[in-house]
Amino acid sequence: MTTYGILGVGSLASFVVTGLCDGVDDPPEVVLSPRNAGVAGGLAATYPTVTVAEDNQAVLDGVDVVLVLLRRQHCDALLELTWRPEHVVVSAVAGLPLAELADLVRPAREVARAVAMPAAATRSFRTPVHPPVAAVLSLFERLGGALPITDGAQFEAIYTSMGTFAPFFEYLTVLSDFLVDHGVPAADAQQLLAATFVDVARPLSRPTPDLAEIVREYAPPGGGNEQLTTLMREEGVFDGMRRALDAVHERLSGR
Ligand SMILES: NC(=O)c1ccc[n+]([C@@H]2O[C@H](COP(=O)([O-])OP(=O)(O)OC[C@H]3O[C@@H](n4cnc5c(N)ncnc54)[C@H](OP(=O)(O)O)[C@@H]3O)[C@@H](O)[C@H]2O)c1
Repeated sequence: MTTYGILGVGSLASFVVTGLCDGVDDPPEVVLSPRNAGVAGGLAATYPTVTVAEDNQAVLDGVDVVLVLLRRQHCDALLELTWRPEHVVVSAVAGLPLAELADLVRPAREVARAVAMPAAATRSFRTPVHPPVAAVLSLFERLGGALPITDGAQFEAIYTSMGTFAPFFEYLTVLSDFLVDHGVPAADAQQLLAATFVDVARPLSRPTPDLAEIVREYAPPGGGNEQLTTLMREEGVFDGMRRALDAVHERLSGR
């Protein structure tokens, strides 16, 4: 069975290891970098097939496929390691292009990027993988499925579209400020909105969600939702968001 090594044992690594091992009949061997000993030790204590290596080189020496789950600013550490040509390397690092990854792990021949997400823990997300390297697709098949992406520009667009949660919370902040301006205490306003919006994504769990249809369902004619959506459209809010998205995409894809 393929063995996996992880460099960068933080939040994302915890989700990935949980998805690979929790309640699984045939969990793979996973070797963790020792940095962040608390998280690594906790995972090793929870799952019998997970071990903590002595150092990053020992991770590489014991495995076939290496997951790079480091922050971008720590990736130069990859240069200090001795890689084998047969290592398969997959990175989830935001803003690390494929060509730079390949340079950092030379002479490893097979490298890929993946948009790994916290939903790996519950095996409920098909992870986009570029290019579709077989061993990496197999890894993500264990974590809810893989979405093979051959086109690099398409992969960058997917990556951009998934790093967009903060504006959603900014939207809620506008609503909260509105309530505060109308005399609602800030804590009550935020609790009210949190309790309301925590369930708002439920229609997205349909097998084939149709976003235009969901907008129509939530905006019956003559209601406040319809008026707000129309006014925001007329104000150019959505066009502005699209322009902002294009700008982020341009920066992240180095164009
Ligand atoms: N979290 C997510 O849901 C998510 C989703 C998509 C993509 N990503 C990407 O995944 C990467 C990891 O994200 P994260 O949220 O898991 O970050 P994180 O929680 O900060 O984990 C990164 C880990 O790397 C460790 N590290 C730093 N330098 C190292 C070195 N030289 N050798 C070995 N380990 C080292 C850090 O240890 P110290 O704490 O000691 O520095 C930390 O434990 C990022 O590039 C992020 O953009 C994350």
